[in-house]
Amino acid sequence: MHAVGIVAAAGSGLRLGADRPKALVPLAGRPLVAWSVDTLLGSGVGEVVVAVPADELAAFAAVLPPEARLVAGGATRTASVRAALATVAGPARPAPDAVLVHDAARPLTPPEVVTRVLAALAGGAPAVVPVLPVVDTTVSVDGDGLVTGALPRETLRRVQTPQGFARAVLVDAYDRLPDGVELTDDAAVVRAAGVPVATVTGDERAAKVTVPHDLAVAEMQIRR
Ligand code: CTP
Ligand code: MG
Repeated sequence: MHAVGIVAAAGSGLRLGADRPKALVPLAGRPLVAWSVDTLLGSGVGEVVVAVPADELAAFAAVLPPEARLVAGGATRTASVRAALATVAGPARPAPDAVLVHDAARPLTPPEVVTRVLAALAGGAPAVVPVLPVVDTTVSVDGDGLVTGALPRETLRRVQTPQGFARAVLVDAYDRLPDGVELTDDAAVVRAAGVPVATVTGDERAAKVTVPHDLAVAEMQIRR
């Protein structure tokens, strides 16, 4: 199976609050995006397209291997993935069977997660996401922060990346998604097009770096 990777790296990282775009923030001396690209390249994905902030192309090119092709991302994650996806196949590029979309902000994703996603695609799933159980009691609240109800935890999952798709399924779903609609992941895009999304087991080490504490945890994970 020929799979191409897309790494969404065009965010600014407001919640992390660093002095540079989040994907360029170092973890054990290497930018988050370099870790994430390596995870895909080291797990059977031969080519990776990285969506980066339009004014940072040179800074990203300087820290990524030659197998990574850079494109200018957009104002939202949905726009960034859309821009990268538009370059995955073309006259000079044979269309891959599958596309894996990964967050640059998940630098320590173990290769086994990628392998599980690829295996589900090879088994015929049109779309697949790595998931983990929810361990905390989970409630809904109203505008004043008062608890309005509890959600049945057994049926809930936390969704990670990389998320895998048959290429044609993902392209068709993005084509159908109206411009300006913003979704937080790609499984939501294909679900909006009516595609069933399968799940495989994720991994705590694939956690997303969002706030400064997450970066401290990732540093600890490397030292272990
Ligand atoms: N992303 C992207 N293009 C955007 C926004 C986000 O490619 N316009 C990417 C980020 O680079 C990140 C992933 O989507 O790897 C997940 O998004 P998130 O964790 O929210 O990152 P940021 O948007 O950068 O962070 P924040 O929301 O705190 O500003
Ligand atoms: Mg964001």
